Amino acid sequence: MRVISHLDRDYLRQALEHDVTTGLTSTPKWLPPKWFYDATGSELFSRITRLPEYYPTRRELAILRARAADLAAVSGADTLVELGSGTSEKTVLLLDALSAAGTLRGYTPVDVDAVTLDAAAHRLAGRYPGLTVRAVCADFERHLALLPRNGRRMVAFLGGTIGNLEPAARAVFLKELRATLRPGDTFLLGADLVKDRGRLVAAYDDSAGVTAAFNRNVLHVINRELDADFEPDAFEHVALYDERHDWIEMRLRASREMRVRVGGLGLEVSFEAGEEMRTEISAKFRPEGLRMELETAGFGVRRHYTDPAGDFALVLAEA
Ligand code: AVJ
Repeated sequence: MRVISHLDRDYLRQALEHDVTTGLTSTPKWLPPKWFYDATGSELFSRITRLPEYYPTRRELAILRARAADLAAVSGADTLVELGSGTSEKTVLLLDALSAAGTLRGYTPVDVDAVTLDAAAHRLAGRYPGLTVRAVCADFERHLALLPRNGRRMVAFLGGTIGNLEPAARAVFLKELRATLRPGDTFLLGADLVKDRGRLVAAYDDSAGVTAAFNRNVLHVINRELDADFEPDAFEHVALYDERHDWIEMRLRASREMRVRVGGLGLEVSFEAGEEMRTEISAKFRPEGLRMELETAGFGVRRHYTDPAGDFALVLAEA
C-alpha cells in the first residue's frame, strides 16, 4: 500500500489561507465546504449519513447494492479510483462486485483528509489481499491530472459531492476529468435529485443538530489552523433551499455583532448581527440535466439508475 500526497502542509496551509482571506473579505462572506473535513468534521459527516433525515447515503447504497454487479460487468474496470472517498463505506460494494467479476486489481482512494484516507486505505488493503492500494491525498478540484493512470479505471465520485460545485465549476471539473480518462475508462457519478423542499431542508437541518455542529466545525478548523477567535456557538446554523438554482445552501448566521481576529492572516473582520456567511451549496439535479452536463463534457451515459423512490441517481458514463 502506498500513500501519495499532493497536499503537504505548505500546500494545505496556503490553500486555506487563500480561501479564508478571499471568503472573509468578500461581500457577502463565504467559506468553501472543503474545510469542514478535518478529523472531527469527517466524523460528524459520518454521523450525518446515519441520520433519519439524511436520505442520500442510504439511497445511494441501495442503488449500489442492486446494481454493483451490473456496473462491474459494464465497466470491465480493474481499478477503482474514488474521489472524495472519506470512510469508503460504499466502496466495499463496488470492490466486492469487481472482485466477483474477476477483474479487480487496484484501488485508489483520493481525499483531502489524510487521517481518514489513511484509515480507509489500511482497512481496505487488509480486506482484499493482493489489492494494490494507492491512496492519494489530493484536492479533486486541483489534482485530477496527477492521479495514477494504471489499469482500466472506473473513477467514482459518489455521495452527491459534485453538488458542492457551482454549475460553472462543475462544467470545468467534468471536462478536466474527461480529459484524464482513456478509452475504456468509466466515470461513476452519484447525484442527489430535486425533490420536495421539506425533505431537502430537513436533510440539512436535522433535529439532533449534527449538521449544525458540522457546519460550525469550519470555524473550529479556522480557529485552530489560522489562530482565529471565532466563537462557533455565536453562529446559528441555517439551511435553505434555493429553488431558482436547485441547490441547498448552508450558512452560518452571526447571532450578534462581532469582531473576529484571524491572527495567522493578520486579518480582522466584523459581522453585523444577523449577518449570514455561506459555507456550502449542495446542488440537486434533474435526470435530464445531469445527462446533459455529462454529454457536454464529452461523456456518453451508459447506465442511469435511481432508487425506487427516485431520490438519488447513479450514472455510469464512458469516456
Ligand atoms: C458530502 C457534499 C455530499 O452535500 O449532502 C451533508 C455534505 N453537508 N450535510 C452533501 C453535507 C451537510 C454532503 N456531501
